[in-house]
Amino acid sequence: MSPSFADTAIAPDSIEQRVSELLERMTLDEKIGQMSQVNVGDSYIHDYLADGIRDGRVGSVLNVVDVDVVNELQRIAVEESRLGIPLIVGRDVIHGFKTVMPIPLGQAATWNPEVARQGARVAAREAASTGVNWTFAPMIDISRDPRWGRIAESLGEDVYLTSVLGAAMVEGFQGDDLSAADTIAACAKHFVGYGAAESGRDYATTNIPENELRNVYLPPFKAAVDAGVSTLMTSFSDLDGVPATANEYLVRDVLRGEWGFDGFVVSDWDSVRQLQIHGLTANDAESAEQAAIAGVDMEMHGDAYANHLAKVIEEGRLDEQVIDTAAANILRIKMRLGLFEDPYTDPTAFPPIANAQALETAKASALQSVVLLKNDHHVLPLSAEKLGTIAVIGPLADAPYEQLGTWIFDGDRELSVTPMHAIHSLVHGKVDVRYLRAMETSRSRDTGAFEEAAALAAESDAVVLFLGEESILSGEAHSRADISLPGAQADLVRRIRETGKPVVAVILAGRPLTLTNIVDEVDAILFAWHPGTMGGPAIADLLFGIESPSGKLPATFPRMVGQIPIYYNQKNTGKPPTPETIVHIDDIDAHAPQLSLGMTAFHLDAGYTPLFAFGHGLSYATFNYEHLETSASELRLGESLTVSVDITNTSAIAADEVVQLYVRDLVGNVTRPVRELKGFRRVRLQPSEKLNIEFELHTDDLAFYDRKMQLVTEPGEFQLWVGGSSETELETAFRVIP
Ligand code: BGC
Repeated sequence: MSPSFADTAIAPDSIEQRVSELLERMTLDEKIGQMSQVNVGDSYIHDYLADGIRDGRVGSVLNVVDVDVVNELQRIAVEESRLGIPLIVGRDVIHGFKTVMPIPLGQAATWNPEVARQGARVAAREAASTGVNWTFAPMIDISRDPRWGRIAESLGEDVYLTSVLGAAMVEGFQGDDLSAADTIAACAKHFVGYGAAESGRDYATTNIPENELRNVYLPPFKAAVDAGVSTLMTSFSDLDGVPATANEYLVRDVLRGEWGFDGFVVSDWDSVRQLQIHGLTANDAESAEQAAIAGVDMEMHGDAYANHLAKVIEEGRLDEQVIDTAAANILRIKMRLGLFEDPYTDPTAFPPIANAQALETAKASALQSVVLLKNDHHVLPLSAEKLGTIAVIGPLADAPYEQLGTWIFDGDRELSVTPMHAIHSLVHGKVDVRYLRAMETSRSRDTGAFEEAAALAAESDAVVLFLGEESILSGEAHSRADISLPGAQADLVRRIRETGKPVVAVILAGRPLTLTNIVDEVDAILFAWHPGTMGGPAIADLLFGIESPSGKLPATFPRMVGQIPIYYNQKNTGKPPTPETIVHIDDIDAHAPQLSLGMTAFHLDAGYTPLFAFGHGLSYATFNYEHLETSASELRLGESLTVSVDITNTSAIAADEVVQLYVRDLVGNVTRPVRELKGFRRVRLQPSEKLNIEFELHTDDLAFYDRKMQLVTEPGEFQLWVGGSSETELETAFRVIP
């Protein structure tokens, strides 16, 4: 039992040789055993589990985080099974283990791959200390629908941002050496298209044309594979009539064939047997057959493989070679993890859980994730020197569990520092902080405490309202059709507004919300997602200007649900709307019947713009962008050009800014989006500091899948923008030549 943090990487050639030698010694049942994952879920070992491991019928377990139990399970596997093959131990370590980082969507709002990488490192280290060696993260499903509860687990709507951050998380979990004791295997999920569930209803059907699949949904997975991700998980969803767990085209042709992925593919929870419920197969045997043919190497919690694969082979419906390949894929990852050298975990060899560095990482991530949506009359930052009294009101000001967000199986609410506590300790002795919850939960419709809240507000110099949704309102199977603030929160906002006091709304939520009905009723909005363990101190620092907000939206905020899907990189259409061509429903003349109402692509009641655009996020500082130039006006295929821009902090406040680069390919073999993010950089600028920022743009960065599904960069004209949001207007152009 001596985990080592030293570089113990094992040579790939020797792994391949050991895998094939081991495979030769394995019976068919033992190979199928490797393909079967069993849910433990308890901290004691059932006989059937112990026997299963002993008999070589279990390759993996999930949901056990008691290190003694894990070590005992490994001991049975290694010492008592015929071939001594260790288990791979899985757990959903999604945005932290005990120390919880912001939800992934919040981490995406940092636009900082280093923060994402460090968050995953901390999570890996804490989880590994309990014997977990495989996480089911990152989730890199492109999510253009905020109704979908799992948008919280995603990295947002954009292909490039998701690809960069997803790869960083893979690197964070897996480190430089997968066999080190403090690294764990990552799992890119859910392959693929899950985020496109119809109407954002979790598990619903997806229909994605191949061109969109290749240009939008697949690239983050390709980036994860390129970053060395060990495993992928298939999606629950049905894609164009073939559920992902039986989708040979996706798993065999694209993932293995085109991308050369050599790790293993796990199903989602019981998604093999669900093929029957989808109506694709008649029974579990057919489900096992179809999933195996598709290339799903391991069945997560289900027994279709265990009960039926051997028979399916016996009957000649499946080539045994498929089983050999699947088992080899799994063994390869177990070997890379160093499990054959040392399957045991010594928790004392790890740094303490939730140590100062872990909490520091969680705070840095939360600080950078919060997005300042609006800030009228510079109401923020609040001044601890000038304010005598502030009222802190709302159901999410002091909710230690709720601020952690969805998927925090192991998250420790005792570690949470809430905004209410953090504000108290930050301004202690300077500002009188008065707190009233006012609503039991975000969903409460009881307005009984609103008069007391209004009285408290009236006696204070400023009000900070903590609103939003609890963690239970987002995540798996927690979709919403109405994504405005639940319950009577909007009424509370209006009642507080009547006091005439400055009102700041801090919103904690697992998704973009429609804030149309409150946006004009408050002076400032800080959108904090579910910010995790250290959310409170981060929010307090931002409220009082210790640090400036610097998060940028990773997903568009619609004005109303009917606009969904609304995302920045939409297509132009043949009739693009402009401010001049849109007509509002209230402006239709009742007396002079109109035949035409603009004739462009907009909604009569919502226009065509979002409430807050992708990439949007204000700062207490102000930045000026100028001198946008490219190193050449023509770029030959296969070459790069340099994009250069000057950014100046025109304020007296040091702050971070996220510089964003967008392009538009004006003419394509298939129509191209109106803008596409191609680069971004988070930079820090001191007061009055000017920086020159350069981006390298290669013609490969401009490639897309054409009508024949070939990846091409086409010669022609490109527009290019750089600025602090997807709505930036600082523009230049260049031309790609053959
Ligand atoms: C989810 C996966 C998760 C798995 C194991 C499923 O319901 O879709 O994302 O990894 O459960 O907990």
